[in-house]
Amino acid sequence: MCGIVGYIGERKADEILVKGLQRLEYRGYDSAGIAVLNGQMLVTKGKGKVENLVKKLAENAVHGNVGIGHTRWATHGEPNDVNSHPHVSGSGQVAVVHNGIIENYNALKKQLEARGRTFHSQTDTEIIAQLLEQIYEDNGRQDFETAVLMTLKQLVGTYGIAILNKEDPDKVFIARKGSPLLLGVGEGEMFVASDASPIIEYTNRVVYLDDGEFAVVTRDDYTVKNIDDVEMSKEVHELAMNLEEIEKAGYPHFMLKEIFEQPRSIADCMRGRIDPESGTITLGGITRVMEELAKAHRIVIAACGTSWHSGLVGEYLFEELAKTVVEVEYASEFRYRDPLVGEGDILIAISQSGETADTLAALREAKKRGATVIGICNVVGSTIARETHAGVYTHAGPEIGVASTKAFTAQVAVLTMMAIGVGVSKGHITPERAKELIQELDRIPKKVSQILDEIDEPVQKLAYEFTDYPNFLYLGRSYNFPVALEGALKLKEISYIHAEGYPAAEMKHGPIALIDENMPVVVIAATDHTNDKMISNIEEIRARKGQVISIMNKGNEEVAELSDFSIQIPSTEDCLSPLLTAIPLQLLSYYIAVNRGCDVDQPRNLAKSVTVE
Ligand code: G6P
Repeated sequence: MCGIVGYIGERKADEILVKGLQRLEYRGYDSAGIAVLNGQMLVTKGKGKVENLVKKLAENAVHGNVGIGHTRWATHGEPNDVNSHPHVSGSGQVAVVHNGIIENYNALKKQLEARGRTFHSQTDTEIIAQLLEQIYEDNGRQDFETAVLMTLKQLVGTYGIAILNKEDPDKVFIARKGSPLLLGVGEGEMFVASDASPIIEYTNRVVYLDDGEFAVVTRDDYTVKNIDDVEMSKEVHELAMNLEEIEKAGYPHFMLKEIFEQPRSIADCMRGRIDPESGTITLGGITRVMEELAKAHRIVIAACGTSWHSGLVGEYLFEELAKTVVEVEYASEFRYRDPLVGEGDILIAISQSGETADTLAALREAKKRGATVIGICNVVGSTIARETHAGVYTHAGPEIGVASTKAFTAQVAVLTMMAIGVGVSKGHITPERAKELIQELDRIPKKVSQILDEIDEPVQKLAYEFTDYPNFLYLGRSYNFPVALEGALKLKEISYIHAEGYPAAEMKHGPIALIDENMPVVVIAATDHTNDKMISNIEEIRARKGQVISIMNKGNEEVAELSDFSIQIPSTEDCLSPLLTAIPLQLLSYYIAVNRGCDVDQPRNLAKSVTVE
């Protein structure tokens, strides 16, 4: 949520910043801007996407070797030119880009107004620039670094910040509290970014800032301190990410590329972790908490959005395979209701980005209360990954499309491996049964590939039929109830069609009132043990003239005959079914959104990584 990029070195900062913002745009795209130091503080910014910024820069170029940039997801103040970042102080000496929320901005604003400062924007960020300049002036304009630290101490809330000072053109100042920031270490040049995507083509050496840290960055060096001015020693990490992973590779959208990557991303997620021959699972990142997992009375899963849906699949998996009680919580709700969690409990935080503010807050709360916290994250080195006691990376590769696809299936794959592992160690599944499941898991990437080959065209055709319907209902039972929720979420996120997911049996307790010939109902009928019940639900929909689109196992003649449209996929173990049924739903929403002319990768109002609560 909001992307920050910064550069100091010999190259053209403006070019690096713009390219960086294009890579970060998935984090927010309400407005974009850069500030470049070149004797003067040159700021170019405006409402809309980075392409608008590019146009502005083409008309009025700004050149320099030091700069900061920002792509915004609006919190305070509507997306317009004035509210865009960077924000400058009254005299234009200081420029600031900021990700997060300054909660005491109103009080600070009043104090600064009383001192004669005039504000131009409705943002909380402008306060930082104005306050910093005020403190610097109050201290006789002697020591800018101290002024930055004094400013940070007055800010309540969350921030990732990058600052330029016109008088100090050889430095970029950065600080973090609650919003991710990292430093890219080059040769004679340094980069700053809210995630690694804008810097990966220049360097793979990064330093992650932790909360409460502040850094002064020059071309050749950096000093990281805490807010009390104590120098911190920081490890330099080597990133394994490569450039192709964050490019479209010929696909029209990242989302389509990521859907089609799933045979590989699921395989990557399981590589070295499952051994189909011996029927064993090794999850190195959680070995040391395996005993606690096996002993746990209950597991709490906390997550948001799509990750919450994978958590729901996890509930079915852990209950069936490991006989562990699982509660799946919206991270935001869990955190604010004095949760009953403590020693002996396990909290699993699931997050693609590893930066979602609500999920992070939930895990911190559980940790504070004595629970063991485990992370399931995709982004290596992310805050959640670093703050958990143990964890499993999903290894799905960078996910750029705002609507999550391959991260979901990888999360489900991790949860499946964990549940089988715990089930075996608790003695609830026999080694023979575990082997069967693991061998079938091993076949899943091939089945996903087969699904993509066989259904891509039929789903495109189907999407044409249903592009203009205003409402959709998605129904599933058991393992496929969360998939129904996820299918509905995918459709509303990217096509802006209203869609609801329901447990199929609940249809009769409300949603059935909506069913008529204008209501397409997507029925996920690919779980064997609920097949008969799903057939009854389909009959109930038909009786009310609803249109039935079934996601079903090949050879299920009865469901095929009863459905208006059917998408046939290979069968699998019920507990592995979400790994297959999710795929057609992702494609269906993708093609409907494309037909409707929607911005699939950057849907309105959404952001990939939600770092504010
Ligand atoms: C945002 C994204 C969703 C994502 C959710 C949780 O809302 O748009 O796609 O599922 O955040 O994100 P996380 O990174 O924690 O999985």
